[in-house]
Amino acid sequence: MNQDDIAYSLPLLKQAEHVVVFTGAGVSAESGIPTFRDALTGLWAKHDPMDLATPEAFARDPDLVWSWYEWRRWQIHRTQPNRAHNAIAQLESRVPRLTLITQNVDDLHERAGSSNVIHLHGDLQSPRCSVCAAPHRFDAELWLENPQENRSISPPRCLRCNNPVRPGVVWFGESLPERAFQQAFDAAGDCDLVLSIGTSGVVQPAALIPDIALKNGASVVHINPQPVLSHPRESSIQGPAAEILPILLRDAFG
Ligand code: APR
Repeated sequence: MNQDDIAYSLPLLKQAEHVVVFTGAGVSAESGIPTFRDALTGLWAKHDPMDLATPEAFARDPDLVWSWYEWRRWQIHRTQPNRAHNAIAQLESRVPRLTLITQNVDDLHERAGSSNVIHLHGDLQSPRCSVCAAPHRFDAELWLENPQENRSISPPRCLRCNNPVRPGVVWFGESLPERAFQQAFDAAGDCDLVLSIGTSGVVQPAALIPDIALKNGASVVHINPQPVLSHPRESSIQGPAAEILPILLRDAFG
């Protein structure tokens, strides 16, 4: 980590009127949440993401797809928010306005205390009917079957139309949820600083968020162990988010 890079970001953060925090898998990495591909181990090792994360896969084998997402939800349930999630939640009360946009389908930002989290790629806690889209509520603490040991858990049925419930995530080939998309892109066009944290910035259209902000005159600070390319108003603090964010907050706001 380079202290100069943190020092460069401090005035941007202190002066910002509207901060967009844009997060990806890296922010949850230190909570031990495996990325989609990393989770394809053990019983799931022989599967390709295309077997599990497309509308066609769900139509072909709803039990397999539902079981996979229950397995992921179960893994996430056993983890805790880390210092990066906590720092982001604290930042909300330190700046005049903050919009939190995540590509993650976990609920660790909410569990850390962030409010109004925009889930661009949906989330595992919000399943809905695969036909009529009615939201389905499940008791987050109650697993009727152990997803670790079972690859054929049937999806519940919609209480309204009796069709299978599907995970509330965005699958390959699907559009982003309209409201989340609109809120995220409006915020990107309106903010003066984007903190882009733990995202490779390659998955579209989410990856456009920093570009839109730059086009509208905002600055972008990347927080990532990997180097990230640079526009003149783009800078990078290299290192793990759980280490850097608490320092950034302390140095900016005491
Ligand atoms: N702190 C900060 N960043 C980290 C850390 C960490 N401790 N560990 C890893 N990273 C960075 C990696 O260097 C990488 O740039 O997090 C980024 C993770 O990149 P991806 O795995 O591509 O995740 P993400 O950007 O969220 O992907 C977007 O792609 O897989 C789909 O739908 C899925 O929402 C996901 C989307």
